[in-house]
Amino acid sequence: MNDPISLPPARILGIESSCDETAAAVVENGRVQLASIVASQVDLHAKYGGVFPEVASRQHILSIFPVVEQVLYQAHLTLNDVDAIAVTRGPGLAGSLVVGMNMAKGLSLAADLPLVGVNHLEGHIYSAWVSPGDVTHLPPEPKFPLLALLVSGGHTELNLVRGHLDYQRLGGTLDDAVGEAFDKVARLLNLSYPGGPAIQKAAAEGNAEAFNFPRPRLEGSWNFSFSGLKTAVLRVVREFEEKQKPLPVENLAASFQAAVVDTLVGKTIQAARTFEVENILVAGGVSANRALRTAFLAQTEFPVHIPSLSLCTDNAVMIASAGYYRYAKGQRDSLDMDVLPTWPLSQL
Ligand code: KG4
Ligand code: ZN
Repeated sequence: MNDPISLPPARILGIESSCDETAAAVVENGRVQLASIVASQVDLHAKYGGVFPEVASRQHILSIFPVVEQVLYQAHLTLNDVDAIAVTRGPGLAGSLVVGMNMAKGLSLAADLPLVGVNHLEGHIYSAWVSPGDVTHLPPEPKFPLLALLVSGGHTELNLVRGHLDYQRLGGTLDDAVGEAFDKVARLLNLSYPGGPAIQKAAAEGNAEAFNFPRPRLEGSWNFSFSGLKTAVLRVVREFEEKQKPLPVENLAASFQAAVVDTLVGKTIQAARTFEVENILVAGGVSANRALRTAFLAQTEFPVHIPSLSLCTDNAVMIASAGYYRYAKGQRDSLDMDVLPTWPLSQL
């Protein structure tokens, strides 16, 4: 069990640039968002059907300075009013991570502020602690030990979180991340990028029982696999194409989404029982999915914490929040800190 951390009052400037969003935020005491800016590159990458790393890194260079300047302006603060700078160190695209990292180092040097490197996945977890509104609307504080399901475009994993900043990875996807599966299936169904929101929208008009897609359980492990499900959708799409029949896009989207939700909820509840946790926490871009949120909130066995919708997909609020707990614990990184494109949570 971790030593309890004493939590001093502090304002943290967070910077995030691990993938295709350039983001900055100011968060007070780890839990109250004072300002947040997310400059999305979605339109730039849409024509490639996924993130093009070289394009992402060039766009971060163009956006990072105005995004940081604007967030301080929005918060009515200057660098003199913040206590530390938290920045995403990894995991992510190397060429994207270095842009945020260099900005953070420059600001730390110029304003003589402590620098704190943060793991992006840890950021997603801490997004559940934050109120995007004001201090009177704080979400209930998650209780340890908790079971964290991380579901994003690059990751799908179950972590046991015993206390602040204390993670044990139980398992993860053996193939596609769940967000990646949403994006790939959306492409099969000729839906727009990113696929998650597009599938959710189509699914709302469809019948989730129209197709009985597999719900791989991988008994005896805490791992997931989504490639079989993706192939099952592909097979049905091919059948319709061969028969030259119009694709039942809404029914396929709804049935695919239902299979994903059943798989994620089933395994997470099973792990929560096994490890006798107090709470479940679901975070990452896919936690924005309405069907997934509804399914988790519908079960009454475990209290479930899911971030506010604006904090599910990549943002810098979550980095500032996780950075606050690291700052409170005494973490200070040097200007030599390098980015870590591959950085498992359990190695923190
Ligand atoms: O956390 P995130 O913004 O970036 C990564 O760290 O990967 O997650 C992005 C992923 C994308 O794959 C996107 O399709 C998915 O989250 N996503 C959704 C929804 N909103 C975003 N998936 C399902 N339903 C949604 N509403
Ligand atoms: Zn993310």
